[in-house]
Amino acid sequence: MLNQSEKIFCALDTTNVDQAVQLAKSLKGIIGGVKLGLEFFMANGADGFKRVADTEIPIFLDLKFHDIPNTVAGAIRSVAPLAPKILTIHTQGGPEMMRRASEVAKEEAEKHNCEKPWVIGVTVLTSLDATDIAATGLSGSVPASVERLGLLAEKNQLDGVVCSPIEINLLRRVSSKDFKLIVPGIRPTGSAAGDQKRVMTPKDAVDNGANVLVIGRPITQAPDPVEAAKNIVSALMR
Ligand code: C5P
Repeated sequence: MLNQSEKIFCALDTTNVDQAVQLAKSLKGIIGGVKLGLEFFMANGADGFKRVADTEIPIFLDLKFHDIPNTVAGAIRSVAPLAPKILTIHTQGGPEMMRRASEVAKEEAEKHNCEKPWVIGVTVLTSLDATDIAATGLSGSVPASVERLGLLAEKNQLDGVVCSPIEINLLRRVSSKDFKLIVPGIRPTGSAAGDQKRVMTPKDAVDNGANVLVIGRPITQAPDPVEAAKNIVSALMR
């Protein structure tokens, strides 16, 4: 169980390692961790990751692996020594891929003597609408696909899924209480939505059942990121 402040992970959507390290240092102990994604990792690789990890802030490594089971297992083996707290794979890689990912994450954590990372599934990318989904040949509505893939993820040993704020209720209804919901699209009251279309405040998202809130620009683009993070934490405590 994470306490309220530990539920917040700040998305460091940058390729600049010094900037990422600086933010990680200043946010350590105030929030739960930081998220590094494809943009950062493709530019800076494991060395860049290690520089941020040296601050000892927990890291959510959001690389969204999607390949055959053997290759995804290999990718997880490759990042396991970095000991991320959370990592992501696509649920559309199928049941066997999810099971292998979970098994390998466990085996590697034992080998490296660290905690098993949470292996979290991406269901339907929020950039896809019903027309896009139909164009890829999937049938059914977006919520129906999210529910089906969420259930499949839990059945195949994933620790949780990434979901938009409007999907929290739906997934909480069908999943067990230990299944983790990682939720981006969070905007503190009064902050700009930017390109996020469906947003929710941190407090509402947690009250509805989110386990981790991914918050980027409301912290990183604030005049004082530490103050912005502290304000979000106190809003969660109210
Ligand atoms: O700046 P902002 O708070 O919008 O950042 C949200 C983070 O969550 C970004 O890293 C974005 O890529 C990620 N994300 C998202 N929506 C998803 C999945 C991930 O906003 N469905």
